[in-house]
Amino acid sequence: MMVINHDSGTNVQEIAEGIYRINTPVRLPDGGGFSFNQYVVRDDQPLLFHTGLRKLFPLVREAVASLLPIDSLRYIGFSHVEADECGSLNDWLAAAPDAVPLCGTVAAMVSVNDLADRTAVSLADGQLLPLGRHRVRWFDTPHLPHAWECGHLFEEDTRTLFCGDLFTQGGADLPPVTTSDVLGPSEEFRHAMDYFSHTTQAAPLLERLAATAPTTLACMHGSAWQGDGAALLRSLSARLTE
Ligand SMILES: [Fe+2]
Ligand SMILES: [Fe+2]
Repeated sequence: MMVINHDSGTNVQEIAEGIYRINTPVRLPDGGGFSFNQYVVRDDQPLLFHTGLRKLFPLVREAVASLLPIDSLRYIGFSHVEADECGSLNDWLAAAPDAVPLCGTVAAMVSVNDLADRTAVSLADGQLLPLGRHRVRWFDTPHLPHAWECGHLFEEDTRTLFCGDLFTQGGADLPPVTTSDVLGPSEEFRHAMDYFSHTTQAAPLLERLAATAPTTLACMHGSAWQGDGAALLRSLSARLTE
């Protein structure tokens, strides 16, 4: 793990071949902690997935610049419209003249093509986008865990699922990658914060994600996870429907 900014603790770690996790820990007034992750896919058409909060832009930019030239970014992707997902989207579009927003069709239609300074590339459910050696496929997951426009991106070469707010773990001092249980901590968080919608479609949506058989889960909050992703997604499904 490489610490990029010693004041904030912002750090970078490769979690799968050519995929980098940028992490900024945040200390909360109550003594607890939280963290925000963004992911860079370094390839012919580089992708940043999650922009981070608008106020984190200088830190995330510094971290991305340690991996590749900012103006080489091609896609600025995200799961749904929230500040930690896309708050600094327009800052990135200004810094990277060839970059475009990358999101699902609902996000583009409802919000992004109004909010963003450049027209989005929107991916239909199941659509594949080649980045070079890496290739990402979009899955619409409305309201899972929240937001109508929500979707998740799966990178086929490394079997990495960018799973956004699924498996959110609290805490500021978690390792970049873990193979130990993240379902327990994320379930604790879900019960405390009730941040999942109560969609009746969670089980079939999670089953579609499980069918990709991911080996790395690139979580937005907390550690990235490595292991049998299909089994973990099915365990989450069981917990949501019990
Ligand atoms: Fe979210
Ligand atoms: Fe989030």
